Amino acid sequence: MCDGREDDGCCLLFCIDDIAAMITRDRPVIVTAALPYVNGECHIGHLRTYVPADVFVRMLRKMGYDVLFVCGSDTHGTPIVLSAESEGVSPEEIVRRYHEHFRRVFSDLRVCFDYYGSTDDESNHRRTREIVEKLMERGYVYERKVMLAFCERCGRFLPDRYVEGVCPYCGERARGDECDQGCGRHLEPGEIREPVCKVCGSPAKFRERTHYYFRLSAFADFLLSFLKNLGGTANARNYAIEWVRRELKDWCITRDLKWGVRFPNRDDLVVYVWVDAPIGYISFTEEALKLKDSENWERRWREIWMENRATIIHFIGTDIIYHHCIFWPAMLKGAEYSLPSAVVASGMMTINGKPLSKSRGNVIWVADFIKRFHPDTLRYFLIAHSSHTKELDFSWEAFRTRVNNELLAILGNLAFRVLSFAHKHFGAEVPDGEIEDEVISYIIKTRDEAVNALFEYEFKRMTDSIMKLADFGNSYFQREEPWHLIKSDEKDRKRCGEIVKNTLQILKAVCVLLEPVMPSKMEELWKQLGMESDIHEVSMNEITIPLKSGQPLEKPEKLFKPVMS
Ligand code: MSP
Ligand code: ZN
Repeated sequence: MCDGREDDGCCLLFCIDDIAAMITRDRPVIVTAALPYVNGECHIGHLRTYVPADVFVRMLRKMGYDVLFVCGSDTHGTPIVLSAESEGVSPEEIVRRYHEHFRRVFSDLRVCFDYYGSTDDESNHRRTREIVEKLMERGYVYERKVMLAFCERCGRFLPDRYVEGVCPYCGERARGDECDQGCGRHLEPGEIREPVCKVCGSPAKFRERTHYYFRLSAFADFLLSFLKNLGGTANARNYAIEWVRRELKDWCITRDLKWGVRFPNRDDLVVYVWVDAPIGYISFTEEALKLKDSENWERRWREIWMENRATIIHFIGTDIIYHHCIFWPAMLKGAEYSLPSAVVASGMMTINGKPLSKSRGNVIWVADFIKRFHPDTLRYFLIAHSSHTKELDFSWEAFRTRVNNELLAILGNLAFRVLSFAHKHFGAEVPDGEIEDEVISYIIKTRDEAVNALFEYEFKRMTDSIMKLADFGNSYFQREEPWHLIKSDEKDRKRCGEIVKNTLQILKAVCVLLEPVMPSKMEELWKQLGMESDIHEVSMNEITIPLKSGQPLEKPEKLFKPVMS
């Protein structure tokens, strides 16, 4: 089996094999997207997880796969409690506000989950306690005494973001849970030096406290063999394998907080947010199935999450590979749950070459963006601008170029040109004629390229192939010069109709294939083509089904507006 390392030469071949073998039509596919922290608004960086996941799901559905797509708000953790404290409101209030905000953004962007839950839902509390108890029963959780920062003025222990100080590894200023300005390391409770209370600013003292640890170190062998066979993108696999080879420390899974999921039999502790957050994938699947299939949900849920009879694929960003490829599978294994089949990790998004940062003001809010530009243009940019595992840099210039030179100049041009021609010369109907072999084979070649790219999680390559088909449509129309044939005799007119019909067929195929990337715009185009079916429901097979001669076409409207500099 392939170990996912680029340098051994076998990687590409084997990984494609693994993936194709893994995603099959006889097993349900569960696609999850990392749960956003609901302590602030959605920025364009977040969308690098959600848009590709949505494209992937829409594409699989077009190919007849049985897919369930779940996500929800990550509501726990200290950033949310601290925001609430500083605003003088409850954590529930913050969570409610941004939960609604994210739902709204996802609906505006047409990221369509089957279920969008919240980790604070009762079913997630229940599932988390059940899993933690199982881990305890099976000996994977133990108590340990640690020295923790305690603020005498506030009278409390200071978990994670409640404390700031000095990183024990590199000496830079750091937060309680990560060295965000220095070496980037995750810090375990008790590791920070010279702690200062974030709330009142007084220096904290160390006090002894008992906490609970997850025996992650017991999973090293399991993780190495699990990771070697894990599908998804090589960046996730390789990074995790390196990590397991280097060191695997036990994790402190409790915190001195009120907000969160109570640790079993301890009223003063909650579980660490990274325990109950991924468990959301399990409880949201449960809720999704209850809504879909109230009679059989339990059996189906067990098949998925207890019996390894589904394909579970997690979409995340590279910043949370550790949690999804190491901590999470160990927890699932320890509690005897099913294991993920693939982890798909996107590269991080930057703006004008610099990391996206709320505190430094290098951020673009999605809600602002879509006031000015159509959401589908943003979806297109996120997919087409860089390959999924690479960094993706946003700049207004790059956005303008993609929209103007690709969406307008290639796709918009093809649609408007051929539809206007048909309108003017063929009474707004699809003309008569056979679909030529050249056109059909180009469409089929495009579909094959797109599907192959999809299974390699190369969404850019997939979209580029489809845009190449649109480009072929333009050159075909240009090459055949139907405008010279229209005014001549009957035979020429027939040929002219054939050319128009073939170009319309190309447009139809492009429309179906691009629907996952630009669902609203392709819905408009589908209507312009006079199609009565629902573009979101049609299968991939539609692309080679000839348009009906005589089918009325709508009056063409330009699909995209240019982005001005
Ligand atoms: N709550 C955790 C995930 C828990 S999953 C059980 C979290 N939340 S987040 O709001 O910070 O990020 C949500 C998703 O957006 C993650 O997949 C993350 O990688 C992604 N991104 C957030 N900022 C990003 C960029 N600047 N660039 C690319 N992806 C980014 O992590
Ligand atoms: Zn204090």
